[in-house]
Amino acid sequence: MSVLSLKGVTKKFGGLTAVNDVNLDVNAGTIHGLIGPNGAGKTTLFSLITGFYTPTSGSILLNGKDVTLTSTSHRARKGLVRTFQGTVLFPDQNVAQNIANGMLATGAGSWTDWFSESQAYAKIRYQEVERLLQFARLSDLRNAAARDLSHGQQRVLGIAIALAAKPRVLLLDEPFTGMTASEKDRLVEMLQSIRQGGTTVVLVEHDMRTVMRLCEVITVLNFGSVLTEGTPEHVRRHPEVMSAYLGTTA
Ligand SMILES: Nc1ncnc2c1ncn2[C@@H]1O[C@H](COP(=O)(O)OP(=O)(O)OP(=O)(O)O)[C@@H](O)[C@H]1O
Ligand SMILES: [Mg+2]
Repeated sequence: MSVLSLKGVTKKFGGLTAVNDVNLDVNAGTIHGLIGPNGAGKTTLFSLITGFYTPTSGSILLNGKDVTLTSTSHRARKGLVRTFQGTVLFPDQNVAQNIANGMLATGAGSWTDWFSESQAYAKIRYQEVERLLQFARLSDLRNAAARDLSHGQQRVLGIAIALAAKPRVLLLDEPFTGMTASEKDRLVEMLQSIRQGGTTVVLVEHDMRTVMRLCEVITVLNFGSVLTEGTPEHVRRHPEVMSAYLGTTA
């Protein structure tokens, strides 16, 4: 079953068509790769899916319901959560506070819960933050200011913040950028475990080895359009994919 469907989605910025008539179906419980050369439209597509942008034409369905014109926060409450390509954190807050912010940001706890700080709710919040700190292997750094973390740790923290919102569909924009080999291995395990927990993942990533390792299905974008889609093996063998990356197709 498709948790996320795009039907003929186009986004124009003035004369530039950043996303061109994209049809995409993401199956529940998969890690779906979205790849393509720089400027292919991947981040723009994420912004359309999450409601930061409105499509010029076409529609976006979440669990079969049309959300094309709904707000970002509505979609977040329905379980659609993204991370950003650059690291977006609350740099002066500590790691644990950053994760707690993620719970607030998308209504995993209501404002009333937070203001009243009932003991029961405070306990649930504390347990959830602890669980995510452990999951992200950031427990030892819980009191460190986010800005003092290494680049790789900041990216993992970004994912922990997104997970605090209890996503059903998690959109990750180049999460592996700047990570060491061991940080990459650990993040691969984290994503596999997120998938096992029932969250669908859409992964934008330039690191081909990692994409091939993780994804069941990969969609290739080029100049805003879908070039091809299929298994890692299909994409690896597709002659136009390599030339798109080398900049020899128009
Ligand atoms: N807000 C905007 N206004 C005008 N043009 C934009 C805007 N956002 C993106 N673009 C253009 O749309 C195209 C697609 O950009 P996008 O950032 O989606 O690519 P990308 O596939 O994420 O690239 P990268 O791999 O470098 O992150 C580019 O030509 C970009 O310059
Ligand atoms: Mg991008």
